[in-house]
Amino acid sequence: MPEAALNRSARTLCVLGGTGFVGSRVAAHLAAAGYQLRLPTRHPERARHLKVLPDARLLSADVHDPATLAQLLNGCDAAVNLVGILNESGFDGQGFMHAHAELARKLVTACEAAKVDKLVQISGLKADAKQGPSHYLRSKGVAEQHIADAEKLRWTILQPSVIFGPGDSFLNRFADLLGLMPLAMPLACPDARFAPVHVDDVALAVAKALDDPATDGRTFEICGPEAYSLRELVQMISEVTGKKRLIIGLPDSLARLQARILERLPGKLFTLDNYRSLSVPSICRSNGCAELGIRPRSLELNLAACLGLPPASSRNYPAVPAD
Ligand SMILES: NC(=O)c1ccc[n+]([C@@H]2O[C@H](COP(=O)([O-])OP(=O)(O)OC[C@H]3O[C@@H](n4cnc5c(N)ncnc54)[C@H](OP(=O)(O)O)[C@@H]3O)[C@@H](O)[C@H]2O)c1
Repeated sequence: MPEAALNRSARTLCVLGGTGFVGSRVAAHLAAAGYQLRLPTRHPERARHLKVLPDARLLSADVHDPATLAQLLNGCDAAVNLVGILNESGFDGQGFMHAHAELARKLVTACEAAKVDKLVQISGLKADAKQGPSHYLRSKGVAEQHIADAEKLRWTILQPSVIFGPGDSFLNRFADLLGLMPLAMPLACPDARFAPVHVDDVALAVAKALDDPATDGRTFEICGPEAYSLRELVQMISEVTGKKRLIIGLPDSLARLQARILERLPGKLFTLDNYRSLSVPSICRSNGCAELGIRPRSLELNLAACLGLPPASSRNYPAVPAD
């Protein structure tokens, strides 16, 4: 192991956002690898699934409070930040800035004060403080700038495309929507493009970023092996689930109208900000997985498992796990 790498047996990590879909898998990987984990959450009662992890402590905490952050990071060797939102309660971007950019700024300050050695930030593909088309992508870009400005902290930024895996809210949401629409499904942004990456490959990338000093000061785009349009993805889900529907791609004007209506309804199923995020292809320009030594899993081979279906239900997409 390179000299600068930390001694794994002594490593204590604070994983912010470690209770979510991605964070839970990241925490499971890191706990299995022998790390001691601190997992702050606003809702410990919703994160009971993490109590089974060895050497992991769920902590009820407000990570936006600098004093609480200082306590959480005291004695930590490294931190991982997965805190993220896809929708804010308002519409002016302040919620995104608070959850992404402000938190990153406070986290850098707190890490440096606590002498935390390394920070791994989970951003989003095409995050850009200035050119990002949505509040989501701009706020993620500002968060990246705060981290890159750190002076006494080693850091790595990961920019994943959409992340899939068992229980995800991307593939499973479309599977649910197909179930609600008996004949045809109107689809906004059918030509939006993604290179979905498996949640366990993102977890491997986090572990590699923590372990390998060669990743310091670098940003990695993280994509799966294949790119698809949204229409192709929904088509695949409809075939695997047996919910055969006519998929009707909405023109831009109707997609925007759909977003304007849905963002005013409880749950904010689709918002104008989501619509704007979809206007840039979520496709990697560089192969971060290869650079990190990861061979990313295929979506098609794992689709049935991600949708909670038995392997037999994916005749066309056999659920053989990739190595
Ligand atoms: N899923 C994807 O397709 C995808 C793609 C690209 C990038 N990402 C990024 O990956 C990260 C994890 O995504 P995910 O899908 O796992 O999200 P998720 O399931 O919604 O989990 C979000 C996590 O962030 C915490 N969180 C949310 N809002 C917070 C707030 N205002 N203050 C403090 N904590 C807050 C939650 O903690 P509590 O326990 O306190 O609720 C939870 O642990 C995010 O940064 C996201 O932007 C995700």
